[in-house]
Amino acid sequence: MKLTVVGGGSTYTPELIDGFARLRDTLPVEELVLVDPAADRLELVGGLARRIFAKQGHPGRIVTTSDLDAGVEGADAVLLQLRVGGQAARQQDETWPLECGCVGQETTGAGGLAKALRTVPVVLDIAERVRRTNPDAWIIDFTNPVGIVTRALLEAGHRAVGLCNVAIGFQRKFAKLLGVAPHDVHLDHMGLNHLTWETGVRLGGPEGENVLPRLLAEHGDAVAEDLRLPRPVLDRLGVVPSYYLRYYYAHDQVVEELRTKPSRAAEVAAMERELLDMYGDPALDEKPALLAKRGGAYYSEAAVDLAAALLGGGGSPYQVVNTYNRGTLPFLPDDAVIEVQAAVGAKGATPLPVAPVDPLYAGLVAHVTTYEQLALEAALHGGRERVFRALLAHPLIGQYSYAETLTDQLVAHNREHLAWA
Ligand code: G6P
Ligand code: MN
Repeated sequence: MKLTVVGGGSTYTPELIDGFARLRDTLPVEELVLVDPAADRLELVGGLARRIFAKQGHPGRIVTTSDLDAGVEGADAVLLQLRVGGQAARQQDETWPLECGCVGQETTGAGGLAKALRTVPVVLDIAERVRRTNPDAWIIDFTNPVGIVTRALLEAGHRAVGLCNVAIGFQRKFAKLLGVAPHDVHLDHMGLNHLTWETGVRLGGPEGENVLPRLLAEHGDAVAEDLRLPRPVLDRLGVVPSYYLRYYYAHDQVVEELRTKPSRAAEVAAMERELLDMYGDPALDEKPALLAKRGGAYYSEAAVDLAAALLGGGGSPYQVVNTYNRGTLPFLPDDAVIEVQAAVGAKGATPLPVAPVDPLYAGLVAHVTTYEQLALEAALHGGRERVFRALLAHPLIGQYSYAETLTDQLVAHNREHLAWA
């Protein structure tokens, strides 16, 4: 089995390698190719990756290359984990929206739109080149904004599934609180990427007992603290929103916080420098503890599980993924991309049925779906007016004066990445 990671020079990659090494029975990778335009990073990350494989006795071969076409040739699956413009572009996304009093975040709001506009054309080009060499290869997309990028891939007819670590993070956390094994926890997970709620926590599988009320009664404080939301809010909802919902439910408070502290991009950039230094140490042969301070915890487990299921070698039968709605959430168009539990196998992902959704969440999901549709149109076809329409449609923006200013800012800060600007 051959797997290719595009964006393999990411400081996150050792997390993935560690997962491949530990879970080699689930996913027997013979060749792992790390593709990245940054040759210096690739050397550091590739070196550590080889040492991790060697230490754990993994027989697979690790290849590094900056040649995308050569790297994807013959791959059974291609993982996309790239960041167009790097942390510098993220820094911008997190900053200029604050001037309008709007959240500055890499995937939510105007910053997320900027990221979508930079990213969609690049990902589509990569996917096209994958398809030219291996029409049967699966594309697993970690590249944010995952909902919009996955929709772009599916609309272009690619064999793609979008993946995020929010659900697996909750699964692990809840398992610990409940004192059970992670694979015994099945989440009723509903919404769009980075806009989801856990509406049930079941033991044993999709038909298992729902222990969410007990979980909230016994561990509500811990869950609330983690999400940085007041416990009474959680109790009133009776479901667990993802931490990305804080950008909605506590928007103005978040904006105040973001205005007064260093950006996440700056923090991450500092961590990356430290991590790359460590990776260069020939004595290091495991993922460093510092990596746990990044947001990507468990993403390797999620990736291995999904790749194993898609490539027909096992993996969990149900996984939370991003795929076409196709009637699952009846208040959304069929071609919306949703994030839900799905049956996954060699034919791809088929969403499991979702219980009727409380209007409290359905309204927001529908609103953001409309934004995502307009965002994709802007990413595919460009033009200030399309950017304006997407911003005006976003529930966290909505006013024409903000949409105008943010359009100007977005274009000004991203000119080098936008072919039409
Ligand atoms: C979580 C999200 C990812 C996001 C990451 C950011 O893992 O699910 O989509 O990329 O956080 O983490 P960072 O350490 O870069 O802030
Ligand atoms: Mn994510």
